[in-house]
Amino acid sequence: TEPLRIALAGLGTVGAGVIRLIDANGELIARRAGRPIEVVAVSARDRAKDRGVDITRFDWVDDTAELARHPRADVVVELVGGSDGPALALARASLAGGKSFVTANKAMIAHHGLELANAAETAGLALKFEAAVAGGVPVIKGLREGAAANEIARVYGILNGTCNFILSKMEAEGRDFADILAEAQRLGYAEADPSFDIDGVDAAHKLSILASLAFGTQPAFEQVAIAGVRHILAADIAEAAALGYRVRLLGLSEANGHGLFQRVHPHLVPLSHPLAHVTGSTNAVVAEGNFVGRLLFQGAGAGDGPTASAVVADLIDIARGEFGPPYAMPAAALAQPGAADTGER
Ligand code: NAP
Ligand code: HSE
Repeated sequence: TEPLRIALAGLGTVGAGVIRLIDANGELIARRAGRPIEVVAVSARDRAKDRGVDITRFDWVDDTAELARHPRADVVVELVGGSDGPALALARASLAGGKSFVTANKAMIAHHGLELANAAETAGLALKFEAAVAGGVPVIKGLREGAAANEIARVYGILNGTCNFILSKMEAEGRDFADILAEAQRLGYAEADPSFDIDGVDAAHKLSILASLAFGTQPAFEQVAIAGVRHILAADIAEAAALGYRVRLLGLSEANGHGLFQRVHPHLVPLSHPLAHVTGSTNAVVAEGNFVGRLLFQGAGAGDGPTASAVVADLIDIARGEFGPPYAMPAAALAQPGAADTGER
């Protein structure tokens, strides 16, 4: 059988993780996908950097955008990051040039997901982004497929591993914010610019993607009200604990009759709620459907292994020919979200 051939842009935490995962589980993946998944070409900034994986067996492409025209690749995987720039150029060129596209880039999907979905659907190609929300947790599949028959009332949860790691360490160890952020960066959880994590922007990117899937609306990142965790002190966390609460950065979205309410900010979560007990880089998403009831998706939200796992799951779907529209309905059918009254004045 012909393998599914991959051109891979970005060889950092997630990109190198994808190569390690395919190396380790290649035979199992081939059995499940019905054919092997094979990396044929790679690109990053620095060809000489030691990445802990052998990349000399792949074609090296200096200009990332050229991966879209690689003669042997069927699919382009983008693990570079950034809402615009080389990631977006590569997405557009890949879909325009007949190659399906897989990404972990929530910033790009939050800003340009609708355009890219339209391009993919018009060309009959796949656009897949499971790894963009909640790392290894299959929440995109969960909402797009598992809960597809339901009216969703609200979707909310812990969407940023770096912030949850920081808040839960501050709580358990009384340590300083800056120290713990450095540790999250060493572990590969944080964004290239960690202010995206701690100021709530990364969680807002993810929330706007979840909201589109849950409510069948066009992505509306610019409507998310955002506050991050930068100003939270160990003393705030101790005071909350004394009152029976934990501090968690939550994203919450619900349709309230006028439009879509979307908000990311630190919440006081009572100890009786499961989200109060989610610690470290774990993410957890709750979705409430009118027939399925309350769904809870939980697991590793960041890091190389979990994120690579989601990227390769998307590749397996493509290898099997199992893909439909990127959102829970065709992009042209997504409704205008309208702007809900958030109560902000
Ligand atoms: P990373 O470790 O910083 O790796 C980024 C890679 O992109 C590096 O290999 C870098 O090349 C390459 N790169 C950067 N700018 C480039 C440019 N202008 N042209 C060509 N290559 C360029 O990032 P990451 O953590 O793997 O994240 C990658 C993507 O996955 C991002 O969209 C991120 O939001 C998303 N994501 C990450 C995680 C996570 O836990 N880390 C989880 C979910 C989603 P060099 O290595 O040569 O510098
Ligand atoms: N920086 C992100 C986080 C990576 O900490 O959740 C996973 O999307």
